[in-house]
Amino acid sequence: MLFQPGNKSELSDYWIEEFNLKFSESYPESPNLYNPIHPIPEDPVYELNSLCKQAVTIHSNFPVSALLIINKGSIHGVNVEVEAWSLGLCAERVAISRALAAGINQFERMHVAAPKSEFCSPCGACRQVLNEMMPKSMIYLHHDNRSVSKHFAEHLLPHGFTSGSLKNR
Ligand code: THU
Repeated sequence: MLFQPGNKSELSDYWIEEFNLKFSESYPESPNLYNPIHPIPEDPVYELNSLCKQAVTIHSNFPVSALLIINKGSIHGVNVEVEAWSLGLCAERVAISRALAAGINQFERMHVAAPKSEFCSPCGACRQVLNEMMPKSMIYLHHDNRSVSKHFAEHLLPHGFTSGSLKNR
C-alpha cells in the first residue's frame, strides 16, 4: 500500500490497522506495467504459444491467444474464463478491448492460435467484433503443424449484421 507523506486521510490509521498495511515511500519500479504495447514479434507462432501460458482456462483447458498488430507494436490477448461459465472472454476480443481502452483504434492485422485445436477458427461473437473493428484487415489463423490461413476479417462473417441494416421508421 502506498502512503506518501502528506497523503494521509483521517481514515488512514483505521485502514492501516484493519488491513495490517505496510508503508512504502515510492511506487515499485515497473515502467511498462500499464503499457499494453509489446514489440512486433519476429516469430508470431512462438509468441502466440508463449502467450497461451497466460490464458485462464479453468473450464475448457483450451487456451487461445491473439496478437493484435498496430503500426508500432503488438497487443496481447488470451481467453479468460471465470467461475460463471458463460462470462468468459475470448482472446481476440480481449486484445481488441485492451487496445481500445488504451486509445488505440488503428489495427493492421491479427494473429490467432489455439494450439489444442487442429483448425483455429474464431467464434461467431469474435467474428462480429473483428468485422466491425477491422473489416479490411487480415486475420492470420495459425493451425496445427505451423500451417496458417489468411482471411480478411469481413470475409469471416459473410452478410454480417451492421447497424445500417436497421430501418429507421
Ligand atoms: N475461445 C476464444 O478465445 N476465441 C475464439 O474465437 C473461440 C473460443 C475460447 C473461449 C473459451 O475460453 C475456450 O476458447 C473454449 O471455447
